[in-house]
Amino acid sequence: MQKFIRHLAIVAGIGLAACGGGQSDQSAATTPTIPSSPMLRDQTTIPIGVALAVGSFEQASSIRYSPQASQLRNLAAHEFSSVVAENVMKPEFIHPQEDQYNWSDADYLVKFAKDNGMRIHGHTLVWYNALPSWMSNYTGDWDAMLADHITTVVSHYSSDINSWDVVNEAFLDDGSARPSIWSTHISDYIAKAYVLVHAADPDAELYYNDYNIEAMPKKLDAVLNMVTNFRNRDIPIDGIGFQLHIDRYWPSVTDIRQAFSRCVAMGLKVRISELDIRMNPNNTATTLTPELAELQRQRYRDVITAYLETVPYDLRGGITVWGLTDATSWTPGYYHIPDWPLLFDANFQRKPAWTGMSEALIATP
Ligand code: G3I
Repeated sequence: MQKFIRHLAIVAGIGLAACGGGQSDQSAATTPTIPSSPMLRDQTTIPIGVALAVGSFEQASSIRYSPQASQLRNLAAHEFSSVVAENVMKPEFIHPQEDQYNWSDADYLVKFAKDNGMRIHGHTLVWYNALPSWMSNYTGDWDAMLADHITTVVSHYSSDINSWDVVNEAFLDDGSARPSIWSTHISDYIAKAYVLVHAADPDAELYYNDYNIEAMPKKLDAVLNMVTNFRNRDIPIDGIGFQLHIDRYWPSVTDIRQAFSRCVAMGLKVRISELDIRMNPNNTATTLTPELAELQRQRYRDVITAYLETVPYDLRGGITVWGLTDATSWTPGYYHIPDWPLLFDANFQRKPAWTGMSEALIATP
């Protein structure tokens, strides 16, 4: 029934993407047409998520401050059943000074998600990047500082956030430990982080999240050795987040299936946590041609099918794409190459990539 009511509301153009207070944009009058065919979130019972920008520092893409904020919220709430903060839960933004937490933008996202019946995944507590300078230059008791950060953030969201990327990107591609402030100052910091999160919220699912682990077996070896080591010491961990920042050529679907299967064999939950598929990795295109768009449809379909066929239902943590529209993706700015890696175009319209994802979700329940 809930699904039916939502469908009617969408067709009638009734805004479901409510979020109380502080909406700074005035774009409601130009809300795009939402198609009446089933939304991604209604095509499966697993969480279908999207990373959302919220802060004023990410002005062009923010669901709170951008001139297009209401369109962004509408699209997110209609198509997706789960959200993750692209940036505003990272220490740099949520804990800008040692004695100051900035909850405002992250709380806004949580309220938006709750108002629209979406689940919330927390990203991220311990990372080498996106650190406030006070943390990078800390001179006090590092174990106590890590404990304060984790305990405060996880406790603040314990009734709303069901799962966390506890540690992000702790290994290099060759499987060695990545040097960071955490590895420098805290012995066994990875294990300590999982213990702290579990103590602050015993119900939260705890993930390790990384990129290239679907493509580089040595890197996945390191992650799975960490899991085995945790299990020998009764340190909690539930699953692995495969970021899947991939492109049209790389890696092969066979490699992706193998990597998922290795986690499944260990009884780990598997999330696709930051999916995007670059179509112009060699900078040979200036637009997304119909041919490229069709290849992207097939690539999205094949990757999602690989996930659904390899990971049994009980171990599926869900699928999250890293951004809403091509205009808000991090990749062109990072690689300095034009690209169109996401499911919706800059005008909020579904791309063939959306169709590929939908085809996979419908074909493999
Ligand atoms: O903080 C400044 C702000 O003061 C300034 O006004 C603004 C101007 O552009 O830049 C600001 O911050 C940027 C921030 O995004 C918000 O736009 C950072 O420089 C920039 O480095 C940051 O990039 C984010 C990146 O993580 C680093 O935190 C990307 O948006 C975000 O998509 C990306 O996401 C990561 C995941 O967390 C982990 N896995 C890889 C993924 C892609 O790199």
